[in-house]
Amino acid sequence: MTTHIYKNNDFSAIMKGRRSIRKYDTTVKISQSEMTAILKDTITAPSSINMQPWRFVVISSPEGKEKLKPLVKFNATQNDTSAAMILIFGDLNNFDNADKILSQAVAEGLMPEEVKKRQLEMFTPIYNNMSKEKLKDIVLIDAGLVAMQFMLTARAYGYDTNPIGGFDHDNLAQTFGLDSDRYLPVMIISIGKADEDGYSSVRLPVDDVTTWV
Ligand SMILES: Cc1cc2nc3c(=O)[nH]c(=O)nc-3n(C[C@H](O)[C@H](O)[C@H](O)COP(=O)(O)O)c2cc1C
Repeated sequence: MTTHIYKNNDFSAIMKGRRSIRKYDTTVKISQSEMTAILKDTITAPSSINMQPWRFVVISSPEGKEKLKPLVKFNATQNDTSAAMILIFGDLNNFDNADKILSQAVAEGLMPEEVKKRQLEMFTPIYNNMSKEKLKDIVLIDAGLVAMQFMLTARAYGYDTNPIGGFDHDNLAQTFGLDSDRYLPVMIISIGKADEDGYSSVRLPVDDVTTWV
């Protein structure tokens, strides 16, 4: 197995040097093994009761990019030049994995069996009775967290990204063979080696966005 080493482990440089990059060096590809390492780091993100509702579709082939093209009309350059376009969906049936996740925690000695039992007893009726709107809210928050983590992880591996919300939300899931009633499209992220500097962008002062109590 290939071991991937961070190219950059300087948190300040990773975070403050991140900016949206929309044009990439087309000669730079990311192998499946390296992308797997990036995703493995990415999914250490937190999620509501650890249900990890994020689902990824990694599009790096010319055929995949061609399929995506009509759905990302205003973000064509990212699709054309990136090493990959990562589709991030939220699985509205994420609680189906509760037993699997909690059993793994028990098997790894991280949780006593009674706690697993109690959690299942507590959360099963809550999730079974949850409205679709509430489920959507949960997966949007969780997938938003994993998206940010992906972008920072990408920087540690020496790549740049652009979060993309401008795509055909109605047709993304079915175009890639996913059940659109179950998988909510959240975001697309392009990733690759930057072939432009990108733009500096401003931020409101902390006091404009913070209330101190
Ligand atoms: C949810 C979301 C959706 C976005 N959608 C697009 C998009 O469709 N196309 C694009 O070029 N940039 C998109 N952006 C990038 C923003 O324009 C960018 O993050 C913002 O201007 C700040 O710039 P920075 O990322 O360089 O810090 C999106 C960002 C977010 C968080």
